[in-house]
Formats: sequence, C-alpha cells, structure tokens
Amino acid sequence: MNRASIVSRFRAQALDPAGAGQWALREDLWIAVDASGRVAAVEDWRDQGCDLDLREMGVLMPGFVDAHLHFPQTRVMGQASGPLLPWLADSVFPEETRFADADYAAEVAEEFCMALLEVGTTAAFVYGSAHASASERLFARLESLGLQAIAGPVLMDGDAPPELTIGVEAAESGLEALRTRWHGAAEGRLRLGVIPRFALSCSPALMQMAGRYAQTHELWISTHIAETVDEYAAACERFGASDYLEVYERFGLVGARTVLAHCIHLDEGEWTRLRTAEAIVAHCPDSNDFLGSGSMPTAALIDPPVAITVGSDVAAGRGFCMRAHLRAAYDCALRGGLRLRPETLLDWGTAGAAARLGFESRGSPFRVGAWADWICVGVPRWAKSVEAMSSAIVFDPSFTRVEGVWLLGRRRW
Ligand code: GUN
Ligand code: ZN
Repeated sequence: MNRASIVSRFRAQALDPAGAGQWALREDLWIAVDASGRVAAVEDWRDQGCDLDLREMGVLMPGFVDAHLHFPQTRVMGQASGPLLPWLADSVFPEETRFADADYAAEVAEEFCMALLEVGTTAAFVYGSAHASASERLFARLESLGLQAIAGPVLMDGDAPPELTIGVEAAESGLEALRTRWHGAAEGRLRLGVIPRFALSCSPALMQMAGRYAQTHELWISTHIAETVDEYAAACERFGASDYLEVYERFGLVGARTVLAHCIHLDEGEWTRLRTAEAIVAHCPDSNDFLGSGSMPTAALIDPPVAITVGSDVAAGRGFCMRAHLRAAYDCALRGGLRLRPETLLDWGTAGAAARLGFESRGSPFRVGAWADWICVGVPRWAKSVEAMSSAIVFDPSFTRVEGVWLLGRRRW
C-alpha cells in the first residue's frame, strides 16, 4: 500500500457481502481510500488513525442498485390512472414529451439524482425519454455526482404521441452520439444502454437496429416484457409470435447482457429459454401491485435459479426507496409460498445486483481496489447480528435510515 496516496481514512463496522446472499459483519474496520476513489487498504482497526469514525452513525454497506426505473417519470409518481396501457397514455407519455426541452430535462435530472442519493441508491439501470438530449443531461449530472449507471433513451417508433417517436436512422444517430460521449465515461462507471421500450412501441426495423447496435458495441440491453396479459397478447399478435420472448429473440435482444423488466406472465418454455440465455430479470413488485399487473412467480425462479435483480420502476413504483421495493419483493414471494431471507433480499438489492449488472464494484466494496461506494445505515442498537441487521434494513423503516452516502470515497448525502 502506498500510504502517500491515501486521501481519507474511515473507521466503521461494515456489512460485507460474501456472495450468494451471505454477509459478514466486520465489527471494527480501518478503510483507506486513495485519490482515485478506490479502496487502498482494509484492515482490522489497530489505532491507525482516521478522519471519520462512522460507528455511531450505523453500519457501512454497499449502496442499493435499482435495476429498472424511468428518469422522465420522476414528476408523475403515484398517478393511479389505471392499468398499464391507459396509464402510459394518460400519465406517462404527456410528461415524457416535455423532455424534448433539454433545460426541463436538466431540472428533472437534478431531482432524480438527489432522490437516488437520499435513499442510498448508488447505481441504476435508467430509462430516459425518447430524446437523446435529455439522456445527455442525465449523464452529465450522474457523472458530476459520481453515480454509477447504465442509461439511455427509450426507443419507440409507434403507438405513442408523435413527439415521442423517432425513425430508425435518427434513433441510431442519437445512440451513436451518446455512445461516443458517454459510454465508458468516468472510468467505466457510466454506460450507454440500448432500450427498445417494449414490443408495442417498436417496429421490427427499430428492434433489428437495436439488437445489431447493442451487439456491435457490446452494450447492455433492457426492455419490458410480459407485464400484463393484454400487452402479452397484443405483442404476440402484432409480431405473429408464439410467445412474447420470441419477439425479442428474433432481433438478438435476449442474452447475458439483457435486463428484462416485469416477467410476470411468461410461460415455462419462456423461463427455460430465459435461463439458457442467462438474461437477467428486473423484478418490479411494487409497480406490479400499483398497476394491478399481477405477481411475478418468484418461487419458481429459485431452483434452477434465474438471475434476479429488483427495480423501483419509478413512476409505476411508488418511490425511489429500494428498501420498500425489497419489502414488496418479500410480500410477492410470500404470496407464491416462498419466504425469502432478508439477507437474500439485501443481496438482490445491492452487491448481487451490482455483480449481475456488471457494475465495476462487483462483490464487496470493502476490498482493496474496489470503488469506495457505500452507504451508512443507522440500525437499532439491539440489532447486533447479520440477520438482525439485514431484517432491520429491509423491514424496519421506522428505526432504520440511510444516514450517509459515499461515492468514490466522497460524501454525497
Ligand atoms: N411498458 C412500456 N413502457 C413502460 C413504462 O414506462 N412503465 C412500465 N411499468 N411499463 C412499461
Ligand atoms: Zn418500466
């Protein structure tokens, strides 16, 4: 360790992810961070000296990862205007048209990023509006705060107001401009995502371009699938497909870098193909309840396992707080007969999701070389074991709060 490169030293107790839903409670650590924002040393405390002692504040842990949410829906949260398709038409699309104005987008990007920080979310897969200029503003704010993200415009060329639809060529040049400027920026902490919104808003030509573009540049893909029975039937009918997943498969959109939001109404054959493709599920349980879309069959996805991450799906999800969405994931699994451990839920919402989505801080953030991205959560004094702490963090919003957020070793909340 080069001691001269150390810029800050922390003393803390930490909840350290050990993989596969296991955690270690490390009671008294000395953690040093270097000027690049990476961990330079982690040792047991032996009076090394520190700039900040966090033991009274709470427990240090990896930040939350929101696997699926919509930046241009920040201001339309909680609009109970019906099931998915009417809700999109009445509450979502009118708001998303406002993002043609880049200044408006910048204003909302500020609110959006602050909302992430306030609840301890340090990395996310973010859908933008259809406008590349709005994604540009979002990337700029993510970068200046040091948040990690995969983000990009939603691609749509049909079934939406004309201000939100964009031809295939224009969509590709928007992606290209964003890729050149932002993909891999901030030492790879920012990535461009390819986001055909869902089958009902995309022509075959647009999805073809999306699949090819993502493959050429090795970009992550995300889309919605099987959120409602009506949407499922309409997608199969429009594309003449025997099931919904087949629509995306045709265009090379389903692979190990694909994040599929909702996945409520998939059949067994689709689940088998999704597993084989190693695609990742963004489970959005609160959104599913709010729109009345149905319940994802969590119990059927444990053995053999599907890679599960959790998304707030703001604004169909009612809030940015991933702890609330993990609680909703617990309730959803329980309705299907599966009682999830809080340690598992915490892993799905933090380090497990970071690893699945290829964020650089994979695994423990308390190891030499990791990004110093972490949060400090105030837990009740009586919570002294891993189990008690993870229960409190996931299930007890009254006595448990996110007290601080560090990105690249710098306090941001
Ligand atoms: N399907 C297509 N677009 C959307 C969206 O914005 N939110 C949700 N929940 N589902 C969608
Ligand atoms: Zn969504």
